[in-house]
Amino acid sequence: MQFTLLASALMALAASAVSASPVSNEARMILDVWAPTIISPNASTVWTEGQQYNVTWDTSNAPVNISNGAAVVLGKDGKLTNTTLVSGFDLRQGWVTVTCPSDVIPEDDYSIVLFGDSGDQSEQFTITTSLEGVLSDL
Ligand SMILES: *[C@@H]1O[C@H](CO)[C@@H](O)[C@H](O)[C@H]1NC(C)=O
Ligand SMILES: *[C@@H]1O[C@H](CO)[C@@H](O)[C@H](O)[C@H]1NC(C)=O
Ligand SMILES: *[C@@H]1O[C@H](CO)[C@@H](O)[C@H](O)[C@H]1NC(C)=O
Ligand SMILES: *[C@@H]1O[C@H](CO)[C@@H](O)[C@H](O)[C@H]1NC(C)=O
Repeated sequence: MQFTLLASALMALAASAVSASPVSNEARMILDVWAPTIISPNASTVWTEGQQYNVTWDTSNAPVNISNGAAVVLGKDGKLTNTTLVSGFDLRQGWVTVTCPSDVIPEDDYSIVLFGDSGDQSEQFTITTSLEGVLSDL
């Protein structure tokens, strides 16, 4: 019974895909578009310039096949910056190590956007300067 329900749900899905556009493209999109929930950084995160941090995300609902070309881009004040922190990793891993840039203004409105086929933005977090940087400015 369960199998029949699942099968007819899949058939309905396939049928709606057919009516929208060619099956292969539509089916690919259903499989590929996945915007994982970002676990860190989050609102309680503080990054110090020049230090390494892990960006982590939930992989519990990851599809079998994911397109390549994942990237983590720095955001500020809800907008993307030109700073790509890392790219070319496997989204299914659930984490990637990044280095906090050392040439940014220390503020509390940074975010990261995790790109696969779609972009998913983290909560806003804080970047501070290193203690060394503060001392050398005195
Ligand atoms: C928020 O991010 C920190 C790392 O910056 C992590 O230790 C913590 O578990 C995250 N909080 C939640 C609720 O996931
Ligand atoms: C990132 O996560 C990996 C795997 O858990 C761990 O080995 C590594 O030490 C972490 N790196 C940082 C900077 O936290
Ligand atoms: C995943 O990709 C492989 C290789 O392209 C393919 O053989 C397989 O059928 C795909 N699986 C799904 C669930 O799309
Ligand atoms: C990003 O790059 C574009 C093109 O190189 C440039 O016009 C823009 O000013 C840059 N933005 C920032 C925030 O650096």
